[in-house]
Amino acid sequence: MPPRIRSAAEDDLPALAHLDAEVFPAEPYPFYVLRQFFDLYSDHLLVLADGHTLYGYVLATSPKAGLSWILSLAITQDLQGQGLGRRLMVESLSHLRSEGVHEVRLTVDPDNDPAVFLYRHLGFVLAGDLRKDYFGPGEHRLLMTLAL
Ligand SMILES: CC(C)(COP(=O)(O)OP(=O)(O)OC[C@H]1O[C@@H](n2cnc3c(N)ncnc32)[C@H](O)[C@@H]1OP(=O)(O)O)[C@@H](O)C(=O)NCCC(=O)NCCS
Repeated sequence: MPPRIRSAAEDDLPALAHLDAEVFPAEPYPFYVLRQFFDLYSDHLLVLADGHTLYGYVLATSPKAGLSWILSLAITQDLQGQGLGRRLMVESLSHLRSEGVHEVRLTVDPDNDPAVFLYRHLGFVLAGDLRKDYFGPGEHRLLMTLAL
């Protein structure tokens, strides 16, 4: 069965934590954070999976006053660069648009070229200068925004 995009289910959480640890080895989300994201945002948590394996996910916040944040996006290392991250983002943005979202925000490491390229290709633009120490000392981030 080819991988397809679907909403996450509760029993995806162990595989999601495994994928997150593989893709973000320095700072994966602790399991309890993923659990709480699922409880809060399962309507906006999409996974790319076949019957056995989870290959990617995207997590957005529920809209609030027409604004949503993309909190995380990841594709398993073996499948990066094949258009799957873009597919997940397009699906998530389309869902958000259908809910009346008019602005999407995200933050990204300024050295993360693949992610910055992807977001730019999707129409995200920089919102201001580099946010120094955004996620704590030395953890600078770019804030990007997309008008839907
Ligand atoms: C960032 C990430 C989600 C992108 O997903 P992906 O499936 O590898 O990317 P895609 O193949 O969908 O590429 C999307 C676009 O980015 C471009 N791109 C991807 N990698 C690139 C690179 N290294 N340099 C330049 N452009 C790149 C592609 O050309 C493509 O553009 P196009 O669709 O206009 O042709 C994935 O690489 C990943 O999981 N990285 C580790 C986790 C991470 O950094 N997540 C983002 C945190 S903000």
